[in-house]
Amino acid sequence: MYEQASHALLNEILIELKFEIGNAHLRHFYTRLGANFYAIHSLFNRLYGERPDFKKQMVKLVETLVRRYIERTPTLRKSDLARERDYNWFLSQEWVGMALYCDRFADNLQGLRTHLPYLQELGINLLHIMPMLDCPPDKSDGGYAVRDFRRIDPHFGTLRDVTALGSALRKRDMLLVLDVVVNHTSDEHEWAQQARAGDKKYQDYYFVFDDRETPDIYEQTMPEIFPETAAGNFTWDEEMGKWVMTVFNNYQWDLNYHNPSVLIEMIDIILYWANKGADILRLDAVAFLWKKIGSVCQNEREAHLLLQLMKDCCQVTAPGVLFIAEAIVAPGEIAKYFGEDAINAKECEIAYNATLMALLWDAVATKNAVLLNQGIKSLPHKLERATWLNYVRCHDDIGLGFGDSDIRASGYDPARHRRFLIDYFTGRFPSSPARGLPFGENPKTGDSRISGSLASLVGLESALESRNEEAITAAIKTIALLHSVILSFGGIPLLYYGDAIGTLNSLAYLADPAKANDNRWMNRSHFDWNKANRRHENGSVEQRIFSALKQMIALRKEITVLADFDNRELLAVENPHLLVFTRNDPHNFNNHVLVICNLNDAPQTLPIGNLRAHGYFLQECMKDLISGSCIEAENDALILPPLSYHWLTD
Ligand code: GLC
Ligand code: GLC
Repeated sequence: MYEQASHALLNEILIELKFEIGNAHLRHFYTRLGANFYAIHSLFNRLYGERPDFKKQMVKLVETLVRRYIERTPTLRKSDLARERDYNWFLSQEWVGMALYCDRFADNLQGLRTHLPYLQELGINLLHIMPMLDCPPDKSDGGYAVRDFRRIDPHFGTLRDVTALGSALRKRDMLLVLDVVVNHTSDEHEWAQQARAGDKKYQDYYFVFDDRETPDIYEQTMPEIFPETAAGNFTWDEEMGKWVMTVFNNYQWDLNYHNPSVLIEMIDIILYWANKGADILRLDAVAFLWKKIGSVCQNEREAHLLLQLMKDCCQVTAPGVLFIAEAIVAPGEIAKYFGEDAINAKECEIAYNATLMALLWDAVATKNAVLLNQGIKSLPHKLERATWLNYVRCHDDIGLGFGDSDIRASGYDPARHRRFLIDYFTGRFPSSPARGLPFGENPKTGDSRISGSLASLVGLESALESRNEEAITAAIKTIALLHSVILSFGGIPLLYYGDAIGTLNSLAYLADPAKANDNRWMNRSHFDWNKANRRHENGSVEQRIFSALKQMIALRKEITVLADFDNRELLAVENPHLLVFTRNDPHNFNNHVLVICNLNDAPQTLPIGNLRAHGYFLQECMKDLISGSCIEAENDALILPPLSYHWLTD
């Protein structure tokens, strides 16, 4: 019954849009609209069906899709068709990503183009450029407080520079990832300005209240994201004379998706950037999209429906474009951003694997793999046609986002263990070599997160200071070891720009009053090209890290079982310091790789009986693809050097 209603509505809409009909170039558009319309209509109806202007809004939505389709260039349309045919393209092991700030890595977009050879030298072919849109300079949240969603901040360059970079990347078979900040705008965005000036239409784009009554009710259940610098979830706006919801910083106004106009505007913005040549869009803070009184206002069912709508609409206009979900939430919640009960991703094809990231940091501090194994075991099942973005560090803080039940199953008390980890990485724990700072400490809840660069957190900074060669080596090995996991785990590895040369914390941000109170800036420093050049000096720290990562990246691209076809099996081993898993070819039993990581700083043994049962070490030795040499069992056990990693094959 319902499908008929959808068909009837679609026909009516198409008649209203008749000025476009008859245009032969719309053939693919109509096919896709026909295929997706039932879902679009059902979702839109579920969210906005009660509104008197429902049909008018539907017409507006379809009109947005068609307009953006007409604008889509022949090159991008061709790529859409190719990706529709080769729909598993993004699961390949050939993709290796890096996230960077355009102006901190190079000066601007043109400069970035001249530095592409550096990325290619390392083997990077997926480039996430952190947000470059117009933001108020002193209230930018690093680009996540957008004043104009269609304007590049002139200090990065122009829109033409973006499209030029896009084509330069395409020529090198590299992908471009751009952000769309879907959850909020800057308080200086035009909509916010209109709202402030009293325009009711735009006040309805946000959550605006005359007094504290409703904000107080909301705040009974909403956690705080930046408790130290932006306490609470609402901000009094003097000029408007009202309270406005600001979950992140007090200058970031949360968008009200109860209003369909907001959703349609955002879909238009998504398609705008798809048309500028982005291959993948990173949707920021998606867990926060739907606010509901009495809830934590994260991971609400409707947030998922909104993402499904965004995906369905994108599939009609720009089907080659993928979404990354930035949802740094509990392990069981993250996988839902792929879309539940489906085979194909219905929401975002890719999601940050924040759980694995946090588990890796646990292993660094504890020097064992107990919680790491336990957390991987509990990682939720992932859809077939969806994949993880695996990372060690990014521009944000590290949240200890693994489940309490996994901490308990590992034999620790959750509160005490989390406290230990915070103390360890902030250097408060005796003998810890880590140089991080606490971020987002909340005395009310006892929660805290961690800031700092990869190299400083694994002890490179303190080791260099004390000129302790052994400690320097351990830090370098730890950096390579952590990358060996994200490169072999299954999913797209995403490196962070300074990490391949061991960039330490930078305190330069303290001199800038607009940044000084946000210590995430410690790990967002200007890329030091002199330091980078030392990657060619034999024996330098930079060379040791860079060459280890470069070699592993090149290797990964050749090992087809490292593609993500849900083909990982965790092997239970008795030694608590080891992480052991296999990557298998589902179609060829003989094609497999055995990954073994020793997270401890002392040598560890692994009896091979267990591995034999899984078809490994049937002969006396296996070849380690990383070192190129053979690993042999001695007295039926492998001896694994401190902080070592092996990718073994027959
Ligand atoms: C995302 C960004 C983070 C920002 C927040 C608010 O989590 O990664 O840097 O502060 O959104 O936009
Ligand atoms: C919170 C949010 C996450 C964001 C971070 C910014 O952890 O859940 O989305 O990246 O804050 O620091």
